[in-house]
Amino acid sequence: MLLDRSFRRTLIARLLLSAGPSTAAALLVAAPGCGEPEAADIRCFRWFEELGACLDREQALEEFRIIYPRCESEEKIVSVESDGTLRDGACCYEVIAEEAGPCALGRPFTLEGHRRTAAPRPADAGWLARAKNTGPGGMEPSLADLTDEERETLADGWLRSALEEHASVASFARFALDLMAHGAPSSLVEAAHIAALDEVGHARLGFSLASAYRGAPVGPAAFPMAPGIPVAADLAALARAAAEEGCVGETVAALVAAEQRARAEDAAVRAALQAIADDEARHAELAWLTVAWAIGAGGEPVRRGVAEVFEAAVASLGGPPPAGPAPGRGRAAALAAHGHLAGSDLYELRSAALAQVVLPCARALGLWKPQRARGSSRPAASA
Ligand SMILES: [Fe+2]
Ligand SMILES: [Fe+2]
Repeated sequence: MLLDRSFRRTLIARLLLSAGPSTAAALLVAAPGCGEPEAADIRCFRWFEELGACLDREQALEEFRIIYPRCESEEKIVSVESDGTLRDGACCYEVIAEEAGPCALGRPFTLEGHRRTAAPRPADAGWLARAKNTGPGGMEPSLADLTDEERETLADGWLRSALEEHASVASFARFALDLMAHGAPSSLVEAAHIAALDEVGHARLGFSLASAYRGAPVGPAAFPMAPGIPVAADLAALARAAAEEGCVGETVAALVAAEQRARAEDAAVRAALQAIADDEARHAELAWLTVAWAIGAGGEPVRRGVAEVFEAAVASLGGPPPAGPAPGRGRAAALAAHGHLAGSDLYELRSAALAQVVLPCARALGLWKPQRARGSSRPAASA
């Protein structure tokens, strides 16, 4: 008998999650019989013979997207390259996985539901901070007392952050067009353009720090635009995007940047994070203002769409922390002094920002009501 595909998928995801936060990720990378040295390209999920053959490639890709919830994994599966093999209670596939990084922060540029960033381009000095943008200590962090490995980690972390900031420039450019297309007031259009310039500054700061830790300049390659990028179809779509990217994304980004700054000791890093935190707070404010305007103009259908965004944010709370080795305490402190936090720290900060700031704001605005979390006896967000 064929089981309903959607119900089956949901049930499997619940079963995996009910296995416990610490085992869900392990099931994926260490399912029995999934290969030895080449395991980096094999990923598995739990399966039961009673369910029949393994899912086809397209269904398996959907399954991996459920199992690797956004912001809870340091990698994402971008394609499934083989049919599944059922062995020892798991379906295993050859996949192409790419590094997703810990929780992406700030305003993303998304196309067809996927975040896009440019690729890094070595030896490109075109996105380094100008002298007038440097803070106390300039843009040269102190490299004394850092091991080669720590420098490499910091270079990678700041590069990833810089590429996300670079994507935010494109995101605000599109947001400005969305606002124009749906009759927004000039104050919002103006703020969107100013925010895009802020993001240029954030990207420069990030690329400058990445280059300093790396010991050689690095910048972004051409941004992967697609022809005919659409503007928001209607006011509800505009408001949903503003809620997701701004009310959630940038509110969280502002709080995380402030916390990174509080833990940082290097003067150049602190100056960069201070500027970023201040700007992100304004960007978050712009998003909440935009949502308020859109609801005022579009009424209940717009409000409903925005409320769904906050429900989705609630659903992302309480999942497993990112997989991957945590740095030792001494190394973690050395990295934090230069603005780098471990994936698990970022995940916890993101969760706290959602529970303690984003959701209370949404609740106060009548955009979200606490309910009991799925499969849990605790309130969805108790702050
Ligand atoms: Fe930014
Ligand atoms: Fe921003």
